[in-house]
Amino acid sequence: MTAPRPSDDSRGAHGGVSEDDLEIRLAGGDDLAGVLSVGHRTWLATYEPIAGPEYVAMGLAKWWTPDVVTTSIRQGRTLVAVEDGEVVGVATFGMQDSAFALWKLYVLPGHHGHGIGSRLMKAVVDRALELGHDRIVLSHIEGNRQAARFYTAHGFTETHRESGGSGLPVSVWMERRIASPHHDDATPEEGSE
Ligand SMILES: CC(C)(COP(=O)(O)OP(=O)(O)OC[C@H]1O[C@@H](n2cnc3c(N)ncnc32)[C@H](O)[C@@H]1OP(=O)(O)O)[C@@H](O)C(=O)NCCC(=O)NCCS
Repeated sequence: MTAPRPSDDSRGAHGGVSEDDLEIRLAGGDDLAGVLSVGHRTWLATYEPIAGPEYVAMGLAKWWTPDVVTTSIRQGRTLVAVEDGEVVGVATFGMQDSAFALWKLYVLPGHHGHGIGSRLMKAVVDRALELGHDRIVLSHIEGNRQAARFYTAHGFTETHRESGGSGLPVSVWMERRIASPHHDDATPEEGSE
């Protein structure tokens, strides 16, 4: 499978993982266990403190089953960050109505702050541009301050909030325009729903 080559190799003050040590590529069937591992470990660490164990159990059962992950891999909608043969980060994307959506972005807790999330984000933006989209939408749950800060730093702005219902957390929806500047005034802003 062809790997989308990350072209943004910016380095933070903390130092990032070099391109030689970290590969960003489309996931294949052999990555199933690694993708599931990132999802399960990261969900527990991220969401149990802010949303509770029931939310974690619900999300893992709904979005991180072998069936769901296999479908996303087969459809070419899953990117992995691989370091020393281990999947350390995952991004998935798809369509939300007519908008390109970043559905999942997860980096193993022990690997945060090394630029892996930024490299995955760059690969997702490249993919969206290749597919002809001029914006990306995403949501994170209210209270996930790490995600809010990361997405804001990557140019996303909040568009609206959506109640989770039945005691589930509120979703904060954000978007980022990715088209070249001369496209920005072509059409007025559309709602994503
Ligand atoms: C949000 C998340 C995906 C970011 O991944 P990450 O690999 O830690 O991201 P990066 O290292 O690229 O950037 C994180 C920080 O490290 C800094 N950084 C360190 N080294 C860097 C480098 N080489 N290049 C870019 N940024 C670097 C960034 O400035 C950034 O600062 P910030 O915290 O003020 O935003 C990750 O924290 C995560 O998985 N969180 C838990 C799950 C989650 O909430 N996912 C989102 C669900 S909606």
